[in-house]
Amino acid sequence: MRFITTLFLFGVTLFTACDDGGDSGLADGPGAYKADYRTSSAFFTQMAGRVLGNSPHGTSQIWYSSNIKSLVANTSFDVPVGTTAIKEFDMDDDGNLDGLAVMFKKDAGFDPTHGDWHYEMRGTSGDLMPDPAPGAIPMCVGCHTASAGTDYLAGTELR
Ligand code: HEC
Repeated sequence: MRFITTLFLFGVTLFTACDDGGDSGLADGPGAYKADYRTSSAFFTQMAGRVLGNSPHGTSQIWYSSNIKSLVANTSFDVPVGTTAIKEFDMDDDGNLDGLAVMFKKDAGFDPTHGDWHYEMRGTSGDLMPDPAPGAIPMCVGCHTASAGTDYLAGTELR
């Protein structure tokens, strides 16, 4: 009996420890691309300029919505609904921006097996690209799944 109780308590502890998303106490994010992300206090960047990352996008600078400022230094976390990430990328590193990759977290159920993230591509002036069609874009999801431990955000360690 004691063994079963211990097992039960362990399970509860494990469940509580993993469930740090909804109970994080953090505010929801904007849940959409915002054109003033560079100057708005609703966003922050940890990068002084564009740096070379590990994605097909070459050099980039990433902005996250400010509601997750206290989370991104952690090695494992879940973010609240509406959390938004905007990545400016310069594919060929010639100093000219080539586009914006955007992702934001939708309500639970949008794409439950992949963290409920919406993905979209935008042009240099923020115009939404029709192709690939915005949503749970399989190509984006496929690669970001490697970062499931940080709730599908792949660039939080870049500086
Ligand atoms: C081959 C892997 C791969 C694919 C495909 C990919 N990404 Fe990423 N993405 C990354 C990596 C790695 C980063 C971290 C920054 C870097 O290294 O450039 C990243 C960063 C980002 C970020 C910044 C937020 C963050 O920390 O993750 C956004 C936004 C983003 N990607 C959107 C997209 C969108 C939209 C698509 C699909 C059109 C896409 N990505 C496809 C690998 C990928």
